[in-house]
Amino acid sequence: MRADFRADVSAIRNAITPRTVLIVGSAPSYPHGVIDPISDLAHIARDHEILFHVDACVGGFLLPFARRLGYPIPPFDFSVDGVTSISADLHKYGYAAKGASLVLYRHKKIRRHQLFAYLDWSGGIYASPTMVGTRPGGAIAAAWAVMNYLGEEGYLALTDQVMKTATQLRDGINAIDGLHIVSDPDMSVMAITSDRLNIYEVGDEMTLRGWHLDRQQFPPTLHLTVMPTHARIVDLFLSDLTAAATSARKPTLQKIGNTLILKLAEAAVKILPEDVVSKLTARASSVLGGDSGLPQRSAAMYGMMGSLPNRGDLRELVLDLVEGFTERKRD
Ligand SMILES: Cc1ncc(COP(=O)(O)O)c(C=O)c1O
Repeated sequence: MRADFRADVSAIRNAITPRTVLIVGSAPSYPHGVIDPISDLAHIARDHEILFHVDACVGGFLLPFARRLGYPIPPFDFSVDGVTSISADLHKYGYAAKGASLVLYRHKKIRRHQLFAYLDWSGGIYASPTMVGTRPGGAIAAAWAVMNYLGEEGYLALTDQVMKTATQLRDGINAIDGLHIVSDPDMSVMAITSDRLNIYEVGDEMTLRGWHLDRQQFPPTLHLTVMPTHARIVDLFLSDLTAAATSARKPTLQKIGNTLILKLAEAAVKILPEDVVSKLTARASSVLGGDSGLPQRSAAMYGMMGSLPNRGDLRELVLDLVEGFTERKRD
């Protein structure tokens, strides 16, 4: 990844071996909302005669309309020679419910590799156009209905609202002392960071004010996906974020405690054997609320998770949490 959070073209070029069959680029990436250098990557793929997939799951139903509205959207689709497939999610900026989505191929010849047919089954000849067998027709019909209901005009109007709201939010956030948006997002997905504040503390302060922002890592950021409905909450959001940044700047006992826990965890990781650190991590995570759903304050937990060298431990903790979603607690 480059410093602007876009794919590093020369690193990708150098990573290609005779066994490479596919390059993937994002339009845009989810964490930071930036579009990879699609044309450059596509040219590499074409030169090596390999496939190039554009993950436009987030941008597929917004970028074409943003471009028509005059926003500077770089080429990311089949207009770029070398792009061989594109994914675009109906359930994101297509505004449909989940359960149906799109993958588009440049040629029927490529799509044919997706199709499945088994001729020798005693139940008859079995064929399926997708990876899964039985699929819910309802989700496809519902998506079709939404697309016809909105039409091109509807998508243009919603994109206009989303892009204007995203610009207001981005400018407003960049104007808050201590906060800024990472890189230069190409559409309406972005991440907030800080050089001076603990951004997870800002996230906790926002939680206390009733906002939930996804916590991201490497580097620590808070994530925003702007939707049409956010047009009416821009001012409220920015004033709460300003207050959250001010609170995060003030030292409190909780924050000093968090910093101490983090420092201890980091020190422990360096000097203690791995199995002891594993046990400590589990203990610390439960003290911080890691085993009881979403804690009200999670800055220390997220800070510690990001700095853990043993990702295997973290995986177990996350799986414990997921298991907890479906398990009934026994006394
Ligand atoms: C860029 C990108 N690609 C793919 C996906 C996967 O989408 P889903 O989990 O809805 O299948 C996401 C989800 O946010 C995404 O942001």
